[in-house]
Amino acid sequence: MKNRLAYDNIIDFVELPKIIKLDDNLYGSAFFLMKLMPARFILERAEREGILKPGSLVAETTSGTFGLALAMLCSLKSYKFIMVTDPVVDDALKRRIEDLGAVVEIVQKPADIGGYQRSRLDKLVEILKKNSGSFCPSQYENTNNPAGYSKFAEILTESVGHIDCLVGTVGSGGSVCGTSKYLRQLFPDLHVVGVDTLGSVIFGQPDQKRLLRGLGNSLWPDNVDHTVFNEVHWVSAAEAFLATRMLHRKHALFMGGTSGAAYMVAKWWAEKNPCKIVVCIFPDEGYRYQDTIYNDRWLEENNVKLDKLPNNPIEVKNPIDAKAQWSCIGWNRRDYENVVGKHKGT
Ligand SMILES: Cc1ncc(COP(=O)(O)O)c(C=O)c1O
Repeated sequence: MKNRLAYDNIIDFVELPKIIKLDDNLYGSAFFLMKLMPARFILERAEREGILKPGSLVAETTSGTFGLALAMLCSLKSYKFIMVTDPVVDDALKRRIEDLGAVVEIVQKPADIGGYQRSRLDKLVEILKKNSGSFCPSQYENTNNPAGYSKFAEILTESVGHIDCLVGTVGSGGSVCGTSKYLRQLFPDLHVVGVDTLGSVIFGQPDQKRLLRGLGNSLWPDNVDHTVFNEVHWVSAAEAFLATRMLHRKHALFMGGTSGAAYMVAKWWAEKNPCKIVVCIFPDEGYRYQDTIYNDRWLEENNVKLDKLPNNPIEVKNPIDAKAQWSCIGWNRRDYENVVGKHKGT
């Protein structure tokens, strides 16, 4: 369409982020729903390759935003969609996804090894086997997940110019690994900071129940390329939630909890390196979290209400030394085994 305020569909309108200057050397890229970008890229590639045919079933395991993105796209493209998730899925999101015509399948028991992530994957395999011709986007291992961020890297360089540091949260690994690979073609010295949460195995922490969702994992996604990261931070839920509220109060940016986690780390990094240009990824908006992160009573009841953020992270030499508080490690683009001292899952 010619008119810049008219769009062919809602995805075209909301897919790209708004780049917002937060400080002299700090930019936030605020997405409506970041996962629309890889979800669209994956479906369009599968259509082009003839793997995904009109009316096919799409099935995926996800606890939130990737599921919503797929549900929106499948509704517009008339695909059936089954989302496999666990009891943590919030009811409002579940209803929204069902309203888009999708089926939400909730697994009830975590597997002994790999927790809910494993039992969700097992359920997904069962569904795909039962439905021949169905398609699984496989966000954890499909290389079209990170590849889908080329458009994002292009927009960042167009709007910000030279970028010295990218800060983003890590779940499937698609956004940070994909974006930084494209950015490094232009800026080979780009410093990449990955933000995870305590109790996530991605960067070598022992698996634990986590209140901060979206980032982190109980398994190691293939799309996390550990050699991308110069620096890794682990943040607690309480710290991420307070930082999310600070992002709202100070910049009127109403974003989700992973945005707060990334903001806390990026702000600290930008202050320490005033001559470097820092870009930080904010993956989704705050509406889903109005009754939790944006509700003081919920924060108090869940023992995650903080009054102040630490001034600095605790620097650790080994990931298992990161305990209850914001911690970091110089990852220095090493592979997992090199940093953690053992293979994944052993
Ligand atoms: C809200 C939110 N933030 C951050 C992430 C992490 O992004 P990625 O999967 O690209 O690593 C996710 C992943 O699902 C998410 O849902």
